[in-house]
Amino acid sequence: MKIAIIGTGYVGLVTGVCFAELGNKVICVDNDSKKINSLKKLIIPIYEPGLDDLVKRNVKNKRLSFSTSIKDAVNNSEVIFIAVGTPPRENGEADLTGIENVARSIAKAMSSYRLIVEKSTVPIETGIWVEHTIKLNINKKIKFDVASNPEFLREGQAIDDFMHPDRIVIGVESQRAKEILTSLYKPIGAPIVVTDIKSAELIKHASNSFLATKISFINAIAQICDLTGADVAKVAEGMGLDKRIGRAFLNAGIGYGGSCFPKDLDAFVKICEKYGYDFKLLKIVKDINHRQKQIFVDKIKDALWILKDKCIGVLGLAFKPNTDDIRESAAIDIIKRLLQEGASIQVFDPQGMEKSKAILEGVKFCRDPYEAAKKSDCLVVLTEWSEFKELDFKLIKKLMRQPLIIDGRNIYDKVLLKKLGFRYICVGRPKI
Ligand code: UGA
Repeated sequence: MKIAIIGTGYVGLVTGVCFAELGNKVICVDNDSKKINSLKKLIIPIYEPGLDDLVKRNVKNKRLSFSTSIKDAVNNSEVIFIAVGTPPRENGEADLTGIENVARSIAKAMSSYRLIVEKSTVPIETGIWVEHTIKLNINKKIKFDVASNPEFLREGQAIDDFMHPDRIVIGVESQRAKEILTSLYKPIGAPIVVTDIKSAELIKHASNSFLATKISFINAIAQICDLTGADVAKVAEGMGLDKRIGRAFLNAGIGYGGSCFPKDLDAFVKICEKYGYDFKLLKIVKDINHRQKQIFVDKIKDALWILKDKCIGVLGLAFKPNTDDIRESAAIDIIKRLLQEGASIQVFDPQGMEKSKAILEGVKFCRDPYEAAKKSDCLVVLTEWSEFKELDFKLIKKLMRQPLIIDGRNIYDKVLLKKLGFRYICVGRPKI
């Protein structure tokens, strides 16, 4: 099929390149001409494992191209995905200006039937507004359909998530739209859930809210563990083996971050308010997540007493491993709190350093984990990169001022660290 993706951010670029890989002809559009020019030169604006090779291969095979022109893309495509950003407004609502503008531009460029698909995470009923906007701006004789096809990919494993999803959700209101989307996704071979548009829109917000709830739930359990001496890792294992609960997203730590959960929960709470429902549960989920960061800073204070002029080595800046994304990263939040307390910070992250330099002042950015540990009063783990799991701890111990590790992601074997002479503090697990 011939496909246009409007909005070449994380979701748009991954979706576009994966559809191209499946044999479709894809044009990725963005109004950021700098980004499009870079992509034309095969410079990829984000770090995502496997993305680089896939873009190069599909551009070379002429299945993938980049443009700043919605008009050209709409003329040359039968299916148009809208994947522009829906950033939060000050009150937490999603700002849908980008979606409206794109819908208007698509309408003006259309000369025959097109299927317009919402890919961005949007509030329920956005589909109705997209349809309305297109109707207002289109030549009345032209037929079109609107559909919702939310994306569930995770940063850091986005390509695998796209190619091997647990399910594909398509919200449609016509047989024609259903047939186009089911045949587009057929090669992937995953279960397809066909719904109306509103239900598809709701599935996305409900899924992210549920996952965030799981994380805050286990973080609350971690608090009980810290207070009682139980072990949250064992509790999660014991709960997770129950198939009705599942082990995924039960890792306690410093709270969830990223460009999706915090923003989507805020937006969802707002939408519910608009319809007259006060989603108190989600407000508490957000509150637990917010407090989790200060609780971790307090652990560091308990271990070091006064933070002023203490040197803290930090491992991790990205909101999770395998990404350079630091948006709403709990690591950044915690570092800022430590700086406010007067601590001096030396940090290393395999991918998140460049983006962090712009927002963290007065921090030393190190070449590797060992430089971050050098002469530090404690080493703090904030992102669970796998390379942090395999460190030379004998060397780390020699480099540090005192052998103290405070682990916000529970990645180390506490027995081993104790044997090596470290004091090891983590989240929701008893000291030994
Ligand atoms: C999330 C969803 O998982 C995707 O399905 C969805 O498509 C995406 O949002 C989106 O809406 O675009 P993502 O934000 O990339 O994906 O990252 P996750 O892997 O879900 O992690 C989110 C945060 O939760 C991270 O800060 C991570 O460290 C934290 N987390 C995750 C925990 O603290 N504990 C866990 O057990 C799991």
